[in-house]
Amino acid sequence: MLKVLMVYFSGTGVTRYFASLIQDEMDKRGYSCDSINLEELVDLPTLWQKGPVALHYTIRAEVKRPLGKYPWPYLDLNTARQAANENPLLSSLKKDWGDYDLIGFGSPVYSFRPAPVMIRFLLDLPVFDKKIRAFSFATHDGAQGDYEAFMNDLLSSKGFRYVGHLDQSFIYSATAIMRSSFDHLKTGRLLVKKSFQARKNIFLFLEFIHSLFYGIPYWYKGTNWLEKMVGIPYRLMYSYGVDFMLNHLLFGFGIHKDECIQCMTCVQQCPQGLIEHDDDGYPVRYYHCMYCLRCLNWCPTNALYFSNLTKGKARFPGPEVLLDAAMQDSIDERLKSDR
Ligand SMILES: Cc1cc2nc3c(=O)[nH]c(=O)nc-3n(C[C@H](O)[C@H](O)[C@H](O)COP(=O)(O)O)c2cc1C
Ligand code: SF4
Ligand code: SF4
Repeated sequence: MLKVLMVYFSGTGVTRYFASLIQDEMDKRGYSCDSINLEELVDLPTLWQKGPVALHYTIRAEVKRPLGKYPWPYLDLNTARQAANENPLLSSLKKDWGDYDLIGFGSPVYSFRPAPVMIRFLLDLPVFDKKIRAFSFATHDGAQGDYEAFMNDLLSSKGFRYVGHLDQSFIYSATAIMRSSFDHLKTGRLLVKKSFQARKNIFLFLEFIHSLFYGIPYWYKGTNWLEKMVGIPYRLMYSYGVDFMLNHLLFGFGIHKDECIQCMTCVQQCPQGLIEHDDDGYPVRYYHCMYCLRCLNWCPTNALYFSNLTKGKARFPGPEVLLDAAMQDSIDERLKSDR
């Protein structure tokens, strides 16, 4: 029986949901699968604040919009990679993970790369001498750039034997914050549809994994070249779109004080531990972040915004709420037709 571990980071729940689908398919095959959220595995703020890694979009934010207080200088990605060293906080993982046959690492795609906190975590790992097989997985909105190559490179440098990548574009969760309204039912239905697609992809990927371990030949075709060619103009548009959005429209951290109930959800939820409260008890962020959008989406009163574009706009409620909406609708439909 294969012993599998999946470690994932999820900003607003989509990657967590994808990990649960993968786990489900693994359980069906009788694999023993553990799945863990990176935030439960390590104290992410401590890890992050010891060595924040700058992706392009965070560098641009720093240069263009200094926030005034810089307690931890960023390392650009190349410097961070060269300086990568085993973090004593993670040394025990070498022993803890020794029994696994396969380990998956998953994250949302942020600006064509894994989320900066996942990069930080991977850079801090010890080098594994037992060549454990590893795969990467991701959720995104359709343009994952060099995420897979990046993971392959990084995991191989930590001694893993990289075997492949699994990804799924689900729903446009990241752009919800710019829409005036969010249709729970419609998006819930789309999520159900995408989940079928995801299960099909997971099934094919697991057939490939099975062949790796049990020697039954199976040709896994990870890349559909036709789809890839057709997708190029879309991806180019998307990459400039994301770049523009992040550069000009989203950086910032604003608060409608009259709407804030000082519940501190945002302070507790920030995976990078960057939100503090000021002397009057209102949240404040002095330092640029990775823009995972969790504080915005999870604020119960919609008091937070990043720019004028996101003021008073819709918020992404998380996959579970959307699935509930779709489920409730199908129950209502059935009850109606029974009557
Ligand atoms: C800062 C940021 C950057 C993003 N960059 C990309 C990107 O380059 N390509 C893409 O396809 N999706 C991009 N997205 C969309 C996310 O990958 C997508 O919404 C993902 O499913 C979110 O997963 P989560 O709910 O687990 O955080 C970005 C989202 C954010 C917040
Ligand atoms: S401040 Fe908000 S968007 Fe930035 S990392 Fe923290 S929770 Fe995510
Ligand atoms: S989550 Fe919203 S209401 Fe709660 S403290 Fe933060 S900004 Fe205020």
